[in-house]
Amino acid sequence: MRPMEKSFDLSNKLAVITGASSGIGLQTALEFCRHGASVIGVARSPQRCEEARLKILSACPGAKILYLIADLSLQSEIRRLAGDIEKALRQQGSSGLDILVNNAGLFMDSLVLTEDGIETTIAVNHLAPFLLTVLLLPLLSARPDSRVITVSSGSHYRTWLNPARLRRPLIFNSLWAYKVSKLANVLFSLELNIRQAGRAPHAFAVDPGLVNTDIGLKGTGPLARFVWRQRQKAGVDPAVPAATILTVACDPEAPKSGAVYWYLSAPMQPSRTALNVELAERLWQESSRLCHLEKQPKEE
Ligand SMILES: NC(=O)c1ccc[n+]([C@@H]2O[C@H](COP(=O)([O-])OP(=O)(O)OC[C@H]3O[C@@H](n4cnc5c(N)ncnc54)[C@H](OP(=O)(O)O)[C@@H]3O)[C@@H](O)[C@H]2O)c1
Repeated sequence: MRPMEKSFDLSNKLAVITGASSGIGLQTALEFCRHGASVIGVARSPQRCEEARLKILSACPGAKILYLIADLSLQSEIRRLAGDIEKALRQQGSSGLDILVNNAGLFMDSLVLTEDGIETTIAVNHLAPFLLTVLLLPLLSARPDSRVITVSSGSHYRTWLNPARLRRPLIFNSLWAYKVSKLANVLFSLELNIRQAGRAPHAFAVDPGLVNTDIGLKGTGPLARFVWRQRQKAGVDPAVPAATILTVACDPEAPKSGAVYWYLSAPMQPSRTALNVELAERLWQESSRLCHLEKQPKEE
């Protein structure tokens, strides 16, 4: 049975999907195109983006798909990307964005600091969604029912985070760094909803489950690759989480539900820590500081 069961209409909707060159992001871009959306895919490799664009066009002739290139580990690239997105939307005759899917993510098996001096897992998996969303808020706020969907993970359970240690952990552990970044995805979505106070955009975190993608094979050593090769076989097809993302993007009931965390196209209870509003506020403040957003864009 195909996981796309409900019929949703995304025609006249503009969506940005990060990490759209492979895995869950590529499948989500394809499903959004099939449902009529104009999609801007984002990823870091021009070649893989072009291959993804051609795959989408071959599976969905007439798809409205465009790719923008950005290395989301770098804040300068995220700022340039936000400007490129605004330009691309203007060229399509729009001054608003309906859906932002923060999907790009990675697993690091060693400590690598970005040019901004931030541990790479947290930079790509949490700070990139945070900064891109904040920069795109004016465009998202211009649409009445806009949504920000961030791809989290069940690995956020049984995890704690210390905002003061976000930049660089005292001791690096690859799995813990990944778990912390995925917990941050839920806390970020929670805090965005608190700040929006019922106004669009509405924020959601999606748990894709274990998915058969190559995430654990990229830039990792032989041990991590061996472990992931065994694990990925048990993973579902990327079409399964793509269906959840589509539901959260389209279902009129999703914002009314008040549920921030979604799994298999339905709300699910995240961890208690992920619903800690005081922690969510502290994480937002520290993320703003690390992204040099102490002054909100409007005040600059
Ligand atoms: N697979 C799972 O079981 C699983 C489970 C829970 C959560 N997730 C989450 O699902 C999301 C998608 O992962 P996936 O499994 O679909 O893995 P994937 O196939 O490796 O896709 C990750 C995407 O992010 C892009 N990306 C990575 N680093 C980037 C950077 N620095 N700048 C720009 N783009 C970058 C990748 O580009 P390239 O094509 O160039 O690599 C790719 O398009 C991630 O947030 C992950 O944490 C996955």
